[in-house]
Amino acid sequence: MLTKFLKSPRTIGAVTPSSESLGQAMTEKIQQNRHDKVLELGAGTGSITTQILKRLSSPRSLTCVEINQCMCLDFRATFPSVRLVEKDCREIGTIFAGQKISNIVSSLPYRSLPRSTTDEIFEQKISLANSQTIISLFTYDFIFSSYHRRYPIQLIDSCSVFFNFPPAKVYHYAI
Ligand SMILES: C[S@@+](CC[C@H](N)C(=O)[O-])C[C@H]1O[C@@H](n2cnc3c(N)ncnc32)[C@H](O)[C@@H]1O
Repeated sequence: MLTKFLKSPRTIGAVTPSSESLGQAMTEKIQQNRHDKVLELGAGTGSITTQILKRLSSPRSLTCVEINQCMCLDFRATFPSVRLVEKDCREIGTIFAGQKISNIVSSLPYRSLPRSTTDEIFEQKISLANSQTIISLFTYDFIFSSYHRRYPIQLIDSCSVFFNFPPAKVYHYAI
């Protein structure tokens, strides 16, 4: 992951995969045995995917999206039964149109992204969500998130995860 980060730091966004603790905090709102879809945006090498799968009765409930071709190759080798869409997450709207998505799990958008990209990613997430959907987001920035003031989402819970490099903040939003 470090090599990939050095090649394209703005896209990869992290030098190491997320820890198990961060994966657990990011997935704690996934209700086991529901039959809705879980969506992970920016799956990377799959450290959070592993935690998502622990909470699902079938890997078919999960769809992951990843833009980086090398990450996708590694991901497919590790998770052959998980559907992976190799695409920019800002362009996935039509693929999931009409599907019920219970959870959207992601570190995207990073705080370092331009405002226009952040707007596009949130628009995309909100367009896929319904009143039951939980949007879970982590960031390495400990400045309190104001996304719920900028977008039509409600902050329902948050926590800090210190067992991660770097430490991270997790936010859970509802529509
Ligand atoms: C910070 S890494 C997180 C990887 C993994 N989920 C984890 O927590 O260890 C973010 C991932 O998002 C991917 N990514 C960045 N921009 C993206 C975009 N627009 N669409 C889809 N994936 C993107 C990067 O390639 C990278 O694998």
